[in-house]
Amino acid sequence: MKLLKLSIAIVTISVMVACASKKSTTTSTAETKTTESPKRIGNGVFAPQDEQLTAIKTKYPNAPMSVLNEGHTIYTGACTNCHATKSIYKFSEQDWPGIIESMSKKAKLTAEQKEALTQYVFSIKMTQPASAPNK
Ligand code: HEC
Repeated sequence: MKLLKLSIAIVTISVMVACASKKSTTTSTAETKTTESPKRIGNGVFAPQDEQLTAIKTKYPNAPMSVLNEGHTIYTGACTNCHATKSIYKFSEQDWPGIIESMSKKAKLTAEQKEALTQYVFSIKMTQPASAPNK
C-alpha cells in the first residue's frame, strides 16, 4: 500500500514538472513575436515590391514606393505593440477599412501615417495570390 502511494506521488510530480516546462516554452515563443522575419509572404506581411506598387496605382495613381514602405514600417512596428503582426490576407477588402479606422486610433497614427498604412495594406491585399491561405 505504501508503495502504491509512493508511485502515485511520483507520477503526479512528473506530470506537474512536464506541464510546467511546457508552459515556459509557450511563453518564450510568444515573446519572440518582434524578432520574426519581416518577409512573411505566407500571411501577406512583407516589404512591398514592384507588383504591389503597380497594383496600388490603380486605386491611388500617385502612390510612390516610399509611402508603401512607410506603411510596411508602421504595420510591422507600431501595429505590433499590442499583438503580433496580423495576417493581411486573412481579412477581406471590405473588412480592412474598418479595421484600419479603429486600429489607427489605438496606435495613435497621424492622418498621413494612416494613409500610408492604408495604401500598404491594400497593395498587399490586391496582389494576394488565389492560392494564398486566408489565415
Ligand atoms: C493599443 C493596442 C493596439 C494597437 C497599437 C493595435 N492594435 Fe490591433 N488589436 C488590438 C486588440 C485589443 C485587438 C483585438 C484582440 C486581438 O485580436 O488581438 C486587435 C485586433 C486587431 C486585428 C484583428 C481584427 C479582427 O477583426 O479580428 C487586426 C487585423 C489588427 N488588430 C490590426 C492592427 C493594425 C493594422 C494596427 C496598427 C495600426 C494595430 N492593430 C494596432 C489592439 C491594438
